[in-house]
Amino acid sequence: MSGPRSLSIRIDRDSRVPAYQQIAGAIRDAIHAGRFDDGERLASTRALAARLGIHRNTAVAAYRSLESAGLLRAGVGAGSFVVAPVMPAAVPGEAAEGTPPFAWRRLLRDPQALEGDPRQWLSARHLPVPPDAIQLTGAIAERKQFPLEDLAGCLRAVLDDAGPGILDYGPTEGDERLREWIVEQLREWGAGEIDIERVFIVSGSQQGLDLIGKLLLAPGDAVVLEAPTYTGAFLSLRHAGARLVTVPMGEAGLDLDALEALLEHEPVKFLYTMPCFQNPTGISLGSAERDRLLGLARRYRLAIIEDHYDTDLYYSGQRPRPLLGDDREGQVIHLGTFSKILFPGLRIGWLVIPAGLADSLRQIRWATDLASATLAQRALERFCRAGYLDDHLRRIRRVNARRLRAMLRALEEHFPAAARWTRPGGGMTLWAELPAAVDTVELFHQAAARGVLFSPGIAFYPNGGGRNAMRLSFNRESEARIQRGIALLGEMIAERLSVSEKGRPALEEPLL
Ligand SMILES: Cc1ncc(COP(=O)(O)O)c(C=O)c1O
Repeated sequence: MSGPRSLSIRIDRDSRVPAYQQIAGAIRDAIHAGRFDDGERLASTRALAARLGIHRNTAVAAYRSLESAGLLRAGVGAGSFVVAPVMPAAVPGEAAEGTPPFAWRRLLRDPQALEGDPRQWLSARHLPVPPDAIQLTGAIAERKQFPLEDLAGCLRAVLDDAGPGILDYGPTEGDERLREWIVEQLREWGAGEIDIERVFIVSGSQQGLDLIGKLLLAPGDAVVLEAPTYTGAFLSLRHAGARLVTVPMGEAGLDLDALEALLEHEPVKFLYTMPCFQNPTGISLGSAERDRLLGLARRYRLAIIEDHYDTDLYYSGQRPRPLLGDDREGQVIHLGTFSKILFPGLRIGWLVIPAGLADSLRQIRWATDLASATLAQRALERFCRAGYLDDHLRRIRRVNARRLRAMLRALEEHFPAAARWTRPGGGMTLWAELPAAVDTVELFHQAAARGVLFSPGIAFYPNGGGRNAMRLSFNRESEARIQRGIALLGEMIAERLSVSEKGRPALEEPLL
């Protein structure tokens, strides 16, 4: 990047997009706009860093991100070279020779929102991860446990009973039989008598969130989220144009003093919360806190979106009651899903919304994707009514509870005394905080190479944070592999702490 091709890159230091991403974005746009030749050598990271007044690691991270996107090639010790996208063959009369490819990225509605997706910075896809890596990552069920035979029987029976009509477009609000089953379950779960007109089947609770965004949010509306929170929720709300305001998680759920202080001075559209086995921390809202939250909602006229995504995975006592059950004023929208207790691939979840919104939601849902697949809904309803879901839940609760205990034991044994972690009563994940000297993004890269995957804390904070924290999933691996994974992590953490105590940087290699 010298001479006539010198590129002007401006770094916005107030942006939530990391500097390296901003630099990579500017270079990527220039490559797509045809401003570099294929094979052209870029300025060295040292020169770029000096020119932009940034740390060299930031320049290295920018080039690495372009390498993973296939736009740069690193020559050994020789610098970085542009890999220009292949130009389509010219069609006579359509484009003059040498015309750069059409710059689609310039048409993007909100490039900043896309750049702020931690999933792309932390993807293990481009890392040299051993094939048998220990998976302490993801809020997903273990594939080996899927009750395939039972589902196959239900699919067959539904096809035989219903005939070809089952493959037609179905009702926008979802299959009535499955909605009835959900109404019955809500009653059993303590949510009271819910009118079926308020229940919508959605293609996963992620779609439920997307629909809520489309239904309620205007660009710039403030939405309150827990910090840390579920990455998919903050990305969905950000894409809907929301301004994301966070309230920290405390030991008994979200910090209600902080929430109250916020509500005192700021109008917000709604609160998105996971009152039970919160993702990522696994913490559940205490019962006094739950009453206080509903009291605050009444006092400040606050709408609440409660995400009950894995409440059936409780390992002692009773299934936690949804907030919906105590919602006297109709201020709660309830989201549920089959993804965490059964199969995420069927893409079936549900939304319970206030009666006054049902028609508007139906319109928005129809305009989004018309409806969910009836075959999947009907097979699932049959599966649940046949008792297969209860059998499956009994099995996985037992297995997961043992795995959680194995992880807690391993943490006691292998993590440093200064580390802290949660002790969830259910769910799939727990949250650990390490001494400040341990950067979990760096640890993530090192651990991936050594065959252990976990989720770095920064992925769960929409506005920054979590640099020394990690989410650990305990439901996907055997007790022995959990033990081994935590032992390996403990070893790497101890190495880092001993290096940092000697006053050296925590890691030589820049990774993000
Ligand atoms: C808290 C939470 N809510 C919602 C979802 C989305 O699930 P689905 O769309 O599969 O129902 C997830 C998935 O990880 C989640 O963790």
